[in-house]
Amino acid sequence: MISIAVRTRSPASRPAAHLARASIVVASSRCSIIPIPRTGYCAATSTEQGHLTASTRLFSTTAVSRLRDFFPASDTPHIQKTKAAWPHHGYTMDEMAAVVPAHRAPRTVGDWVAWKIVRFARYWMDLATGMDRKQQVDKKNPTTAVEAEKPLTEAQWLIRFVFLESIAGVPGMVGGMLRHLNSLRRMKRDNGWIETLLEESYNERMHLLTFMKMCEPGWFMKLMIIGAQGVFFNSIFIVYLIRPKIVHRFVGYLEEEAVHTYTRAIYEIEQGHLPRWSDPKFRIPDIAVEYWNMPEDHRTMKDLILYIRADEAGHRGVNHTLGNLNQSEDPNPFVSTFKDRDVPKPSLKPAGYERSEVI
Ligand SMILES: [Fe+2]
Ligand SMILES: [Fe+2]
Repeated sequence: MISIAVRTRSPASRPAAHLARASIVVASSRCSIIPIPRTGYCAATSTEQGHLTASTRLFSTTAVSRLRDFFPASDTPHIQKTKAAWPHHGYTMDEMAAVVPAHRAPRTVGDWVAWKIVRFARYWMDLATGMDRKQQVDKKNPTTAVEAEKPLTEAQWLIRFVFLESIAGVPGMVGGMLRHLNSLRRMKRDNGWIETLLEESYNERMHLLTFMKMCEPGWFMKLMIIGAQGVFFNSIFIVYLIRPKIVHRFVGYLEEEAVHTYTRAIYEIEQGHLPRWSDPKFRIPDIAVEYWNMPEDHRTMKDLILYIRADEAGHRGVNHTLGNLNQSEDPNPFVSTFKDRDVPKPSLKPAGYERSEVI
């Protein structure tokens, strides 16, 4: 079986190599865009890729029999196909190109705490996945620096994507669940928040499933994901009970970082640093093509990341807006019909809408 060893180019990237050893799964240690039935193509190679070492070690704990498709569609006597529960509304290419990294300056103590927690988490994530501090941020504009001195490899990007998407699907589910229970308990309307929050977590899970078609974590990564989910779920659960505004602000800041991260990945593809993903033969997973309804001439890895980045920009605008609203009284503006304006577009409003603009 398989795997990829990521070269440890600096002390900071050693933890990334450690994670990678447990994460990237391809059909051969020497594969060069090898087709894997139902999963598209392997995302990276070992010996041929400049950023990776020639020494390959067996670091996947996954049995060979499980490497073909990590979550194949169920084959039953009666069901032909199961569609996505929440069909994606889609984007135009112009809408996706208009997304930019941006930052909402903290205004309250709660904002500041939320932002600092996100920055703290980002610091450790960068350290663990091989982004050193020089390329991490521009200190004056912490979420806008996209040029890297040392670009990541495809393998390193996938580690980052898989871990982060496994975390990103938690807050929407917790918020939706607590608002649902609150509505039942208090016998009050929720005014449209629950569906948006649950759809956000669904959307994040689709991001994860898409990346899971390109690699599968080994035992170490899975352990990290389980641990992180346990801590993250319980923390969000408690804080959402006490101060839901802080959680929405926190998610808004988290999504700022996600937009920044995906913008960097797009930039590195454009600069030719990720040759496997730029290869015209590279096929993105079918699950992504179907979910985003991607047009035939826009199905490259860069296109896929453009779609995902636009989703993150939407979450950024939605959560910053929800963080500005009265949590118990205000309707969700993103599912409302207005007397005097169009429905707000969260992906184009990085800092979110002020309450006076949408309520
Ligand atoms: Fe995501
Ligand atoms: Fe997101």
